[in-house]
Amino acid sequence: MIFPEDFVWGAATASYQIEGAVKEDGRGQSIWDTFSHTPGNVADGDTGDVACDHYHRYKDDIGLMGELGLAAYRFSIAWPRIQPDGEGSINPRGLAFYDRLVDELLAAKISPYVTLYHWDLPQGLEDRGGWTNRDTAYRFADYAQAVHDRLGDRVSDWTTLNEPWVAAFLGYGNGVHAPGRRDPGDAMRSAHHMLLGHGLATRALRAGGAQRIMLVVNSSPVLTPAQVNDPSAVPSEADAAVAHRIHALLTRQFLDPAVYGTYPEEVIAAAERNGGTGHIQDGDLALINAPIDLIGVNYYNPCVVEAGPGLPADAAWPGSEDVKFATADAPTTAMGWPIVPDGLSRLLVRLSEDYPQVGLMVTENGAAFEDVLENGRVHDAQRVAYLDGHLREVGRAIEAGADLRGYLVWSLLDNFEWAEGYRRRFGIVHVDYGTLTRVPKDSALWYRDVIRRNGL
Ligand code: FCB
Repeated sequence: MIFPEDFVWGAATASYQIEGAVKEDGRGQSIWDTFSHTPGNVADGDTGDVACDHYHRYKDDIGLMGELGLAAYRFSIAWPRIQPDGEGSINPRGLAFYDRLVDELLAAKISPYVTLYHWDLPQGLEDRGGWTNRDTAYRFADYAQAVHDRLGDRVSDWTTLNEPWVAAFLGYGNGVHAPGRRDPGDAMRSAHHMLLGHGLATRALRAGGAQRIMLVVNSSPVLTPAQVNDPSAVPSEADAAVAHRIHALLTRQFLDPAVYGTYPEEVIAAAERNGGTGHIQDGDLALINAPIDLIGVNYYNPCVVEAGPGLPADAAWPGSEDVKFATADAPTTAMGWPIVPDGLSRLLVRLSEDYPQVGLMVTENGAAFEDVLENGRVHDAQRVAYLDGHLREVGRAIEAGADLRGYLVWSLLDNFEWAEGYRRRFGIVHVDYGTLTRVPKDSALWYRDVIRRNGL
């Protein structure tokens, strides 16, 4: 299987998950510092204080990327390095780190893909209401502009938000992620304000001449249990209605406003039942509907649901009354996530049909397994099989006509996996957290060969 000539191969990371150096060069505190330092929130009490120490080791890490032949590296900027309190004057030392990072990448002929928000909101903004406060959207646009002013001469690919569904509904809905708030109305409001921030930031970036702008969503095909292993299975009317509603809450809630300037009726209904729609002001949807070039798709597993009459809404899913969240009948990763590779092609084809005017990129895909480092090697055959299986589905989606521009593996390095801490390893490069030594796993060497031959 050979991929299109200009297909972009790369890997992704995020600031809080790899950088460490949380007190260095004037960095302010983020909601993830506060959250991870609060006992009970993260497995084993892990924090991002040191993480992979990428802040100090970025040159070596870029050296590794070069050896693997990556054409693109997707990383995020820590907003509290740029504006320690979330607003006002810019911290030049924080910005200088990303300046060096970008220069080093370009020298290695690796294209920087910058994500502006991968969840590390400055704590100062959270203290003023966080994403439940409309003002945060405007502060985000200011920050985006400041970063673009400095890096825009060298960075062509910009992402506003990473996975606003997770940030809003795990951060403010079920409280599994920072800031750990638990209120369905707060979650709905946060999602809207993130979208508003996306729209305002997109306009600011565009005005500054940004070449390509992307919104990255965690998306999944929403399937009934029978559809997981049999795509031709026809769901009952009740199951189909539930799947339709969950798809609206998971994916269309973000992409419809961004691409079409409309909210699905299911999202409005969910807001009406959870705090109301007063936060959606006249003109907001027009602001959110700023043209984007690409939809970034982070795919790990399908979302499996069926009708569950009488069930209350799940805390992460306001509006999910009468829905039973089920599990797929499939082998799982160390996260307990079912492995369903063709969920990726089903998803990509659906998105390319629903949003045909926007290109697609797989911005995250990968898996955690129980890796063993032995004699300086990690024989992670399961990860190779996972990546191989999913890349075949990427190829199938391209054959089916999806405008798919590239694939970025999650993740370059083992890193701080949010509420799971360091015990879940997603890297194609192993990190020893005692010595911080990096060792490319078999999957990294396999990926290098895939990139070399531009195919499987
Ligand atoms: C995604 C996140 C990413 C990583 C993977 C496993 O939801 O964007 O940071 O944690 O999951």
